[in-house]
Amino acid sequence: MNTKNPFTLQNPFSRFELEGDKALFNWIVTDMIQNGGNLVPSDHWNWNLGSNETELGSQVSEYSDELFEANYSQLQMMLAPWVGGTGMKSIDEVAVAKYEGFLRAIDHLNLLADDIQAHGQSNGWRETDLGSMLDINLITAFTELSLRERVAVCEVGGGYGRLAEVFLSDLWVSVHYVLVDAVPGSLMYSYLYLKSQFPNLRIGSYYNGDIYSENFDCYIMPSWYSHLLPSSSFDISINIESMQEMSQHHVDYYFTLFDRLTKPDGEIYLSNARDYIFRGNWNIPKHWETLFLHNTPRSWSPDHPTHIMRKRNGDFSLERCILEGAFKHQIIAWQQQQLISEQQQHIADRDRICGELQQTITDLTGCQQTGLGLRRFWKIFRRRAKAG
Ligand SMILES: C[S@@+](CC[C@H](N)C(=O)[O-])C[C@H]1O[C@@H](n2cnc3c(N)ncnc32)[C@H](O)[C@@H]1O
Repeated sequence: MNTKNPFTLQNPFSRFELEGDKALFNWIVTDMIQNGGNLVPSDHWNWNLGSNETELGSQVSEYSDELFEANYSQLQMMLAPWVGGTGMKSIDEVAVAKYEGFLRAIDHLNLLADDIQAHGQSNGWRETDLGSMLDINLITAFTELSLRERVAVCEVGGGYGRLAEVFLSDLWVSVHYVLVDAVPGSLMYSYLYLKSQFPNLRIGSYYNGDIYSENFDCYIMPSWYSHLLPSSSFDISINIESMQEMSQHHVDYYFTLFDRLTKPDGEIYLSNARDYIFRGNWNIPKHWETLFLHNTPRSWSPDHPTHIMRKRNGDFSLERCILEGAFKHQIIAWQQQQLISEQQQHIADRDRICGELQQTITDLTGCQQTGLGLRRFWKIFRRRAKAG
């Protein structure tokens, strides 16, 4: 494994300036409708993705030219669904404060600059890139990747290729990274994005007419052809901020897929909110041993663990049950802390309002004493209220 210090993005300020390819998009949509079966994305990620926030509103009921123009014609249009409003923000003091304590402690790859904010700002980092530093450090801490010549990774729901990008930048001598997705915009843009970031790598896609081969550095494919991937051939299987927005049958399907694809002793890395859209069962196979189960700085809800497991022989359900019990304590502590913060905010609001009322009384009293007219008083009062 090579280490680069600090981690540096390619084309940092222009990387997201990509136009969609309507013909490619239409091909993906047609194939999805014909062959996707029950692996087509659930409502949240199908044609109406993000439409409520655009002019099209809730009238959308299919993929159309108009929809392509409004929601998919430029990569930037999908950044919010992929990484969220917070994730896409340029790195700032608040983001660094949120991540730094945790990241410094786990940065065994030595990817962080001494001044994270200065380096991030000069290298076009968004907050989501701090999440990538977190993922890559955690993933590699639990596996002996340095011993491998070529690392094989399968990620389901990789967005535009946020984490693939880090794996593909020369941290390893050689990587084979497969991105499996079911959302036309993600299938299209992950290919366009990674190709533009790494013109010298072998990036293949089912929708470029490429036949799957382990020789690709990166290969993008829809989930309805994932049966073509060879069993026990991946060192790491990944799903981040993605199953949380699926349906039960999708999550069950991908667990079975990960179980088939991951090598014995290989790693499974999940990082999802379990109290968001998908509230069903996380039917984790008994023979996946839990190595790590904690919230991280990216957790935006109380039950949002990063869960790292190893595919083993045996039954690890009892151990997991105990670790889940301990994690529940973290959730309760988080909820109590949230409650405390809300109450503190109420008290602060009350104090502010009391202060303002007291000031009004003082002003009124002053007006009475100095004989200032009521109209003058209201002028002063309004000006103060406007200011803040
Ligand atoms: C919120 S984005 C997260 C992207 C990426 N993992 C990250 O953290 O930057 C959710 C991802 O899951 C994918 N996705 C949604 N539903 C899916 C499904 N049923 N099957 C496969 N991928 C799906 C989306 O296309 C997208 O790539």
